[in-house]
Amino acid sequence: MSETPLSLLGLCGSLREGSFTLQALQVVLDAAGAPGVKTEIVAGEDLRLPLCDGRHPDDFAPEVAALVGRIRKARALVLATPDYCGAVSAVLKNVLDWLAPDGLAGKVVGLVAVAGGASADGSLLSLREICLRQAAWVVPIPAPVPLSNEVFGKPEAPFSITMHAQLRELGRELPKAARMLSDWSAGAVGVRYLV
Ligand SMILES: Cc1cc2nc3c(=O)[nH]c(=O)nc-3n(C[C@H](O)[C@H](O)[C@H](O)COP(=O)(O)O)c2cc1C
Repeated sequence: MSETPLSLLGLCGSLREGSFTLQALQVVLDAAGAPGVKTEIVAGEDLRLPLCDGRHPDDFAPEVAALVGRIRKARALVLATPDYCGAVSAVLKNVLDWLAPDGLAGKVVGLVAVAGGASADGSLLSLREICLRQAAWVVPIPAPVPLSNEVFGKPEAPFSITMHAQLRELGRELPKAARMLSDWSAGAVGVRYLV
């Protein structure tokens, strides 16, 4: 009997056509792809949701309930944000708001932040803080991607190669982390593997 595939869902917080954040997310998911892993990206219009107003997602528009349902079903997530004013984009924050306070409990989450300028640390840190408050298990491989024009415009440049390698490393680690968390939750491994 074959095992249920490990579902890994990527969410892209930029709606811009030709988004570098989407390209970064694709690199992560390509690296995560392996037998037994099912990857999917939600981007563009699928993330243009009405603003969260505190209602339960099921009592709101069907597209909100549908997306929240997909996120709940995924074993692991990759959240990718463009750096907007040093923080998470409103598009991604709105999705996270719809999940309710502990909406990422039990999920392994990889984080990516993409900035036009010299640092994507602000957006990465703000995204990490939100995820921790949402009770996620954040994979400890930071993937800030500054100088997005350079990294995706000149992928053969040494700095771009380093950034792509970092994104692939995050991708390779995600299925391992998700399986480790499942095994640990099932009592199959000791807590020492998580520290
Ligand atoms: C509203 C807005 C705010 C931005 N703020 C910052 C910023 O604070 N720091 C920075 O380095 N880049 C900033 N940028 C540039 C984006 O981070 C950069 O264009 C990035 O590649 C966006 O991702 P995208 O290509 O997926 O749209 C901003 C862009 C926009 C549209």
